[in-house]
Amino acid sequence: MKITGSYPKTRLRRLRKSKWIRNLVSETTISSNDLVLPIFVREGKNKIETIKTMPGVKRYTIDKLHTILNQVQKYKIPMIAIFPYTPDSKKNSLGSEALNPNNLICRSIRYIKKKYPDIGIMCDVALDPYTSHGHDGIIFNEKIDNDRTIKILVKQSLLQAKMGCDVIAPSDMMDGRVGIIRKALDRKGFYDVSILSYAVKYASSFYGPFRDAVGSKSKLKRDKKTYQMDFRNVSDSFREVALDIKEGADMVMIKPGMIYLDIINRIKSNFKIPVLAYQVSGEYCLLKEGIKKKLFKEDAIFESILSFKRAGACAIVTYFAIDIIKIIKNLQEK
Ligand code: PBG
Repeated sequence: MKITGSYPKTRLRRLRKSKWIRNLVSETTISSNDLVLPIFVREGKNKIETIKTMPGVKRYTIDKLHTILNQVQKYKIPMIAIFPYTPDSKKNSLGSEALNPNNLICRSIRYIKKKYPDIGIMCDVALDPYTSHGHDGIIFNEKIDNDRTIKILVKQSLLQAKMGCDVIAPSDMMDGRVGIIRKALDRKGFYDVSILSYAVKYASSFYGPFRDAVGSKSKLKRDKKTYQMDFRNVSDSFREVALDIKEGADMVMIKPGMIYLDIINRIKSNFKIPVLAYQVSGEYCLLKEGIKKKLFKEDAIFESILSFKRAGACAIVTYFAIDIIKIIKNLQEK
């Protein structure tokens, strides 16, 4: 790219001199259409519980979900991602609770689809909320066994689809699962159920607060580096996305977000598929802490979410989804 012009004929500040002209030439926007809100559900009745490690984020019993879903509806957020907090008594080494048609996720999907049919539901496919060891797959001969795990993930996907889940999101990082899940969904007639593959998921320290929110942190022995990606690598991300597209993914996720904007940008430039990004729990906590300590204002949230759009993401999964819309409304009114 050739940069032309020079001072004093060219003055870049002319395009920054007032709010209207800045708005006129702005290249990127965020609206509620670009957001996905993760929601944590728990067993029991009449409870909205704070999560110590994630200030401002709550766990809801199903009968209290309306308090948050009414906001999702009001602010026109297209999709939510639901995550279960599973009691220890329901965990085992095979994560069997994942396949219980009456588990927390299944009951939540049924409730939400009945009461809020226009809100899209995305569900993780992975075993970590259900395993006694906190891993996304099952352990065989002391290893996370890829092919044995996929057999369970396929059943988990079919069950979620049957309950009414719109978007199946495998977040487990087993090889080959997207193709096998797509085939199984089609065989059962679930042609309209989408697959949003967590194609690019790095083994990150920034998932810590989430693991606490779903109750898997204290269970987890060893890290997830034999299946989640090595953050020193870029080429893996191209291979993961290419394979998942070939296997039938409709959309791909990149995760974490803020410190992986280079990856979002490269994937967006190289593949013609919707790219979503996940601003994960650790990123949320960092921003939240900075605001609490008055190191910066809430506008920092807007800036961080906008950077995902600028990098090329079509949507962002973020615990700030509702806050962002309020901030946008405020900015418009100013
Ligand atoms: C589970 C899963 C994780 C997240 C989403 N799905 C954690 C992990 O892989 O350990 C992280 C989300 C966040 O940190 O906000 N497979």
